[in-house]
Amino acid sequence: MTINFKDYVASVSDFPEKGVTFRDISPLMTNGEAYAAATDKIVEYAQSKGVEMIVGPEARGFIVGCPVAYKLGVGFAPARKKGKLPRETVSANYDLEYGESTLYMHKDAVKPGQKVLVTDDLLATGGTIAATIKMVEELGGIVVGTAFLIELSALNGRQKIQNYDIFKLMEY
Ligand code: PRP
Ligand code: ADE
Repeated sequence: MTINFKDYVASVSDFPEKGVTFRDISPLMTNGEAYAAATDKIVEYAQSKGVEMIVGPEARGFIVGCPVAYKLGVGFAPARKKGKLPRETVSANYDLEYGESTLYMHKDAVKPGQKVLVTDDLLATGGTIAATIKMVEELGGIVVGTAFLIELSALNGRQKIQNYDIFKLMEY
C-alpha cells in the first residue's frame, strides 16, 4: 500500500501565533504504519549517503532521527536547547519563523571525519538546521545530507543550506 503522507499532517491556522500555519506531524507519529513508512524512506536515503551518525535538533528532530539511527545501527546525537547538556558543549544561535534560540551539542557527540545525516521534522526558515550543521562541522563531522518530513518552500530555508543535499517527504 502506498501511503499519502500528507493525510497524516494536521494544518493549524494561527498557531503558535497569528499568521503562522502550523504543520503538525503528530498524526503521522501516532500511526504506526505511517511512522514506519516515513522512517523507512529516510533510512533508504541515509543508506545511499553512507551515513555513520545521525544528529537531530530538539525536540522533533529526535522523533525523526532516532528510529532512523536504530534501523541503521548507527548512533544518534541530540542538538539541545539551553541548560540541558551537562558536559562541555559547542553552541550556535539562530532565528526561527517565530522567535530566536540557541542550540548546544556535547563536544564529543560527533567524531572528526564521521559522515553525518542531520534530521528534523520540518524545514522552515532553515535557521535550526543551519545552526545544527554549523556545530556538527565545528566538531569535525561531514554533513552528507539533511532529511525532513516537510519542507515549507515559501520560507526558502533551502537557501541557508545551499551546499547540502536535502531529502524531504512532503512539501507545502
Ligand atoms: C521547529 C521544527 C524545526 C524548526 C524549523 O522546532 O521542529 O526544528 O522549528 O524551523 P526553521 O527552519 O525556521 O529553523 P521548534 O524550534 O519549534 O522546537 P520543537 O521541535 O522543540 O517544537
Ligand atoms: N516550525 C517552524 N515553523 C513551523 C510550522 N509552520 N509548522 C510546524 N513547525 C514549525
